[in-house]
Amino acid sequence: MIVDSVLTNAKAYINGQIVDCSLALEEGKIFKIGKETQMPNADQKTNLKSLLVLPGLIDEHVHLRDEGKAYKEDFQTGTAAAAAGGFTTVLDMPNNEPVTMSMETLRNRMRIAERKVLVNVGFYSEFPKKLAEVKDIVSEGAVGFKLFMGCQIGGLNVDDDEALQDAFKEVAELNVPVAVHAEDKALLVANEEKLKQAKKSNTAAFLKAHSETVELKAIERLLKISAPTSVRLHFCHVSTEEGLNAILEAKKSGRKVTCEVTPNHLLLSRDDLEHYGQLLIMAPPLRNKNHIEALWKGLEAGWVDALGSDHAPHALSEKFASSVWDVKVGVPGLETTLPLILTLVKKNRLSLAQAVHLLAEKPAEIYGLNNRGRLEQGKNADLTVVDFNHKFKIDASKFKSKAKYSPYDGWNVQGKPVKTFVNGLLVFDEGEIVAKAGNGSIVRRGKA
Ligand code: DOR
Ligand code: ZN
Ligand code: ZN
Repeated sequence: MIVDSVLTNAKAYINGQIVDCSLALEEGKIFKIGKETQMPNADQKTNLKSLLVLPGLIDEHVHLRDEGKAYKEDFQTGTAAAAAGGFTTVLDMPNNEPVTMSMETLRNRMRIAERKVLVNVGFYSEFPKKLAEVKDIVSEGAVGFKLFMGCQIGGLNVDDDEALQDAFKEVAELNVPVAVHAEDKALLVANEEKLKQAKKSNTAAFLKAHSETVELKAIERLLKISAPTSVRLHFCHVSTEEGLNAILEAKKSGRKVTCEVTPNHLLLSRDDLEHYGQLLIMAPPLRNKNHIEALWKGLEAGWVDALGSDHAPHALSEKFASSVWDVKVGVPGLETTLPLILTLVKKNRLSLAQAVHLLAEKPAEIYGLNNRGRLEQGKNADLTVVDFNHKFKIDASKFKSKAKYSPYDGWNVQGKPVKTFVNGLLVFDEGEIVAKAGNGSIVRRGKA
């Protein structure tokens, strides 16, 4: 037998161990892992020269934009950024133009993406106006629903507890997770109004509006509303100690909740926001030291389930609006997450096992991506190859993303993604995209 390719001299992360091995890839799957002498013949042979091979990483929180927001990012640039950042699968958020919230909008988005994506892409949907459509959206292949609680984006009225509970019942039956942006709309709007009336429009005002209580209130409210249902809530970008504790309590009581933190909320503080200004405006915002320490504690203790980049690209001009209330929230993250996390592993703040768990194994489990997240015979041949010793400076001007800025621009990091294989194919190699657009695949729930 002749397989598509064999990778030799790998140091592969397999079941918690780093194993010296070779990998044979065939028709997009891992055909065999073993000694070089056990490998079948191959059309192509690549010597990985002792580079570290991780299971293809999964970023369960990205905004790829495209369609009406293609000026910020499109499927090609966003997935090029993913490949360059070592991510082989990303899950796309629905706050697009048009909002992904029906079978038609989802189908259309998948159709446009299909020809452009370089890595695998799964899609979230917002809730539709009519709950009966939830089933259709799931059968179309949405990997999850997204619920923005801070403003009205989808068809589900976020002020209506009963409607929220009905929606949770509906998705619980289909066993599809709901990713939540937990900020309480009523409190957030009231805070904003007060501050605007007082003519406050600086970054400090933004922090005041998006207070810690805004997050906690939304988390507590949703935990309460969802309690009688068996919905799986996944809290995105948890940023506060109190919020994390509320989630932890729910977990301890046996609730099916999971949560995500972003590198931003672990590595940057409100002092950085004061120093660097509006570029670092995001929602939820950066917090003080106590919260950062609590998130770290949660991460170390295993209470945090996933690391998501919340890749949120905007045009640079949108980051520097004259009033903070007009600033577009968020920063790009796909090309900085892995080097930042590997640097933390080098510094012994996290183990490699924790990093792989948070960036691959657990996201695969939460979203039912059964063929991904681990290096194992028969799984998809998604591989993230890194040079763990390579020290370099983050240079945002070199990003593949359209958003060529970063809070981490100029940071010294150690651990560089050097090759990214998606479905057995080399997509990113030593700084360059080497595959054609459309080589990634659309990840549909149940077929992933
Ligand atoms: O920082 C953020 N950016 N928070 C959000 O909730 C939305 C996101 C975006 O789409 O830019
Ligand atoms: Zn969010
Ligand atoms: Zn987001």
